[in-house]
Amino acid sequence: MSDTHRTATGNRAPAGPTTLVTNISHLTTNDPSHGTGPLGTLRDAALVIEGDRIAWIGESSRAPATDSHHDAGGCAVVPGFVDSHSHLLFAGDRTEEFNARMTGRPYSAGGIRTTVAATRAATDEELAATLDRHLAEMVRQGTTTTETKSGYGLTADDEARALRVAASRTDEVTYLGAHIVAPEYADDPDGYVALVTGPMLDACAPHARWIDAFCERGAFDGDRTRAVLEAGRAKGLTPRVHANQLGPGPGVRIAVDLAAASADHCTHLTDADVDALAQSATAPEPTVATLLPGCEFSTRSPYPDARRLLDAGATVALSTDCNPGSSFTSSMPFCIAVAVREMGMTPDEALWAATAGGAAALRRTDIGTLRPGARADLALLDAPSPVHLAYRPGVPLVTDVWQAGRHAWG
Ligand code: NIG
Ligand code: FE
Repeated sequence: MSDTHRTATGNRAPAGPTTLVTNISHLTTNDPSHGTGPLGTLRDAALVIEGDRIAWIGESSRAPATDSHHDAGGCAVVPGFVDSHSHLLFAGDRTEEFNARMTGRPYSAGGIRTTVAATRAATDEELAATLDRHLAEMVRQGTTTTETKSGYGLTADDEARALRVAASRTDEVTYLGAHIVAPEYADDPDGYVALVTGPMLDACAPHARWIDAFCERGAFDGDRTRAVLEAGRAKGLTPRVHANQLGPGPGVRIAVDLAAASADHCTHLTDADVDALAQSATAPEPTVATLLPGCEFSTRSPYPDARRLLDAGATVALSTDCNPGSSFTSSMPFCIAVAVREMGMTPDEALWAATAGGAAALRRTDIGTLRPGARADLALLDAPSPVHLAYRPGVPLVTDVWQAGRHAWG
């Protein structure tokens, strides 16, 4: 173990009080230079938090003096989960639709209209309260960064207010005016695309970092998807795409062509799609394959083949897709467990995908990895190792969460 970070603050002026977190039985850093194996694992470890950052990581016996001390109680510690795909700006729920599905009805994008009606009728305060409830639920399950999207307003005003609410809670905000064609434009999809790429984009772009489109039969075809993403890009938004969820289609190819940060779902892929994602992994602006197992679980659909993507060399992220229709879970541990048991991922691969993979899908280098200088986002697990996230599905193993250096839960 290198001793280069022997002091908590080096010669820099301290950025805030220092806290030593010690008695960590198993620490996953995702930084091989700070530990052994691909996940950079350290045993009997400690780390120092200074302000909102990690200042030092190493073996307990070498820990520097700090202002205060937190005993991790022998927990395993992992980077806070990065949930890079969710839809939390909504009102109402779709219990009836779920019930019907569980008696054999298939999932269809048409259910989105139910949520659009409820969301339009909700006040800003109600939208904010629902968002806060789900963000709090996520933190309790170890998620320290959440991306979230509009897409249930589908008018310029309703989309913009959803994004305003989101932007007051997270930096990772996505404009999804192209979720489905708004009901008012059912007979005029091109007119709706003109709205999404015109006045709606003007109203939404100031509040968002990303632009997304649902490229699918029943939503937006390849040409319309491309038009939406290119318009967003011209306004400074970076694309991400709902791609190949319900059937094969052009979504993944468009995502890679436009250097989107991620192609999400990736359930129905051709060999050419897999090759495109694999080649993109080493491109200057890679497209991450973001897999959303909660969606297949909740729609009783075949899971995406993570093994095929990983073996080809694609970068894979895992995320909840938390939304009231296709995947009403906020739990990254649940997604890890399903990905390991149903999608051919090893526990190490799934943990990486839920942390560093999510960070890659958001093009962030300050999260998803624990190393000096990274944001101090930690999830403490009541388990001897993070393999238990998959080994003990449904068990609330997250006991303590630190977000940007602050004790957020536990
Ligand atoms: O990612 N696929 C499109 N959007 C969501 C589902 C939205 C809904 O059913 O309300 C998804 O699965
Ligand atoms: Fe989604």
